[in-house]
Formats: sequence, C-alpha cells, structure tokens
Amino acid sequence: MTVSKLIRPFGLSLCSLLLVACGDGSDDADKDQQAVCSDLPPLAEKDTYKVGFAQLYEEKGPWRDANTASMLDEADKRGYEMVYERGSSPDPAEQVARMDALIEAKVDAIFMAPHDETVLAPSVVKARRACIPTFLVDRAVDDRVAKAGRDYVSYLASDFREEGVLAAKWLSDNVEGELNIIELEGTVGSSPAILRKEGFDETIADEERMTILASESADFNEDEAYEATKRLVEEHPSVNVIYSHNDGMSFGVITALEEMGLEPGVDVKIISIDGTRKAIEYVLDDEDEDGNGKIAVVVECNPKFGPIAFDTMEAYARGEEVALRVNNVDRVFDMNTAEAYLPEAY
Ligand code: AHR
Repeated sequence: MTVSKLIRPFGLSLCSLLLVACGDGSDDADKDQQAVCSDLPPLAEKDTYKVGFAQLYEEKGPWRDANTASMLDEADKRGYEMVYERGSSPDPAEQVARMDALIEAKVDAIFMAPHDETVLAPSVVKARRACIPTFLVDRAVDDRVAKAGRDYVSYLASDFREEGVLAAKWLSDNVEGELNIIELEGTVGSSPAILRKEGFDETIADEERMTILASESADFNEDEAYEATKRLVEEHPSVNVIYSHNDGMSFGVITALEEMGLEPGVDVKIISIDGTRKAIEYVLDDEDEDGNGKIAVVVECNPKFGPIAFDTMEAYARGEEVALRVNNVDRVFDMNTAEAYLPEAY
C-alpha cells in the first residue's frame, strides 16, 4: 500500500460542536438537542469501538465477499463490535437507508463503500454533521459534495485509473495486429467504472491499430455481461478483444463466447480486472498448450484492506496524521505471473 502525500493534521480543534436547539425539558425539544459537527469529527481513543460498515450491495461476487470478510475479520481480531447488514438491493437508496441506520445507532466510526459516487455523497456529510468520522473504502464519493479532510477522514482504495492504464499497456505490449475491442463497463456512476474506462481509453487513444467498437455497462454482473456479450459480438463480428471491468463479468463473457462457438483466448482475448481465484485459473487454463489461457490477463484490484482500514482508524484516534488517500498497489497477472499469485488468490 502507498499513501498519498496529501496529509492534513486534525484534532479536536477542527470539530465545532454546536447545539442546534436547546432543550426546554419537553421530549420534543430534548430530541432536537444533538451535537452538530461543522468539520471533521474527532475519534476518542478507546479499548474497543462500535464500528459501522456500509458495504455496497452486489448479488454475487467473490471480490465483494473477500472485501467484506477482510473488514469483518479484522474487526473481530481487534475485539470491536461491527454493525453490518449485507443489504438487499443494488438500488443506492437502500445503502443510503443503511447509512441512516448507522448514524441513528450512533456508532463510533463508519466505513463505507459507496455504490454510487453521487447518491451516497450526502450520507457522508450527514455522518460528519452527526459527529461520526467516516472512512471511505474501495469507492469514492463526489468530491464537490463531500471532501476528504472535512467530511470524511480518508479514502482507501485501489487506483482504478491506473488499473485501466495497466490493462491497456498489457494489451499494447503483448497482443499484435489490429485490435477491435468491446468494453464492458462496471456499474454506471461508480468510481471503478468511471476510472477504469478513462485510464484504458486514454492509454489506447493514440494506438491507431486499436478501435473500441462498443462500450457499455454490464453493472459488474456476470449475467448481464453474458447477455451483453451475445448481443454485442453478434453486432460486431470483427471483435477480437473484450475488456471487462471485473472478473465476474469476464466469467459471463467466457460462457457467452463458448456458446457462440468462439474460443476465449484464441478468437477473442479477454482482459479482466480483480484477481479472483477462478479468473487466475482461467489465465492458466491453456488446454491447447498454445500459450493462450481463456483470460489473457487480470489486473489486480486487491480487496483485502481490513487491516489498513482499521490501522488508519486507530491512527486517527491517536491523533496522528492520516493520509487523505491511501492507495493499494495492484499487480498484473498473465500466463507468466499468475502461477506465483495463485496461493494468495481468493
Ligand atoms: O470497486 C471494486 C470493484 O467492485 C471490483 O472490481 C468488482 O469486482 C466489484 O464489483
């Protein structure tokens, strides 16, 4: 992990505690008597914490499961109470409701992985106003609404733009000839979908031999990617590369291509992101021994950041300087490097 150089000091002095209404003894007035923080709330040093985790909802996905397990295991190891509900809908409004419940429960701190940059940004501001320090994990929020160092403490995640750049560079360095690309994007409005697209598209922009035939969202979802692949390959029969923004979607791509009589890795190269065990096994799955796995390359997006997330929270409680942005460093797994990574895969 690397930490950004943007470090901002904090402390009790940055948090203004205001009483929005003074109680007159009546029940209603007492209910209104709540502290409001106009700047980053402090976190007291304690032996144990009640911590909320507002994970985004995805129906199935090994990446999300590994990320959740890493957060829950780490809380458990440290003896903290974790308030966590899996969620029940991909509608970001459902995650907003879970954020509201955590604020209502007056947890000591919140970790949130926002499903949508825009819809969840006001929830971060709401937590700050309720004097609950929030740490963003995995995904960002719209910084015109919620700002690091004011509304939330720190943002810990992969560099999604760099993941897109790494995917494009691998393609450029390892696959020759005219490349006709279909891009399957992640969830509309999510930071990985936005930045993986930007990083990839910008990197290949000057490569005349590369053309993006179609680019659309399959919502980080295997079934949607399956449907989209069938339709898009039919519409664009010259496709020979599919850049899929996550492993789950790549699995749908493989099924679709095989059903259409195309050989993944030979007829169509699949470029994926995440690093799940199943995807790495596809990279190494070279039945014909011609050097082509079913997935050509997987750019890593490391989900296991429970330890760094809680270390950051504890450092903040101790009054230490905390980076506004903590970057995971991601690797690239292809036929030459996947085997060594396999024992760590999830
Ligand atoms: O935000 C990280 C992305 O979210 C992972 O690539 C993906 O698998 C998950 O859906």
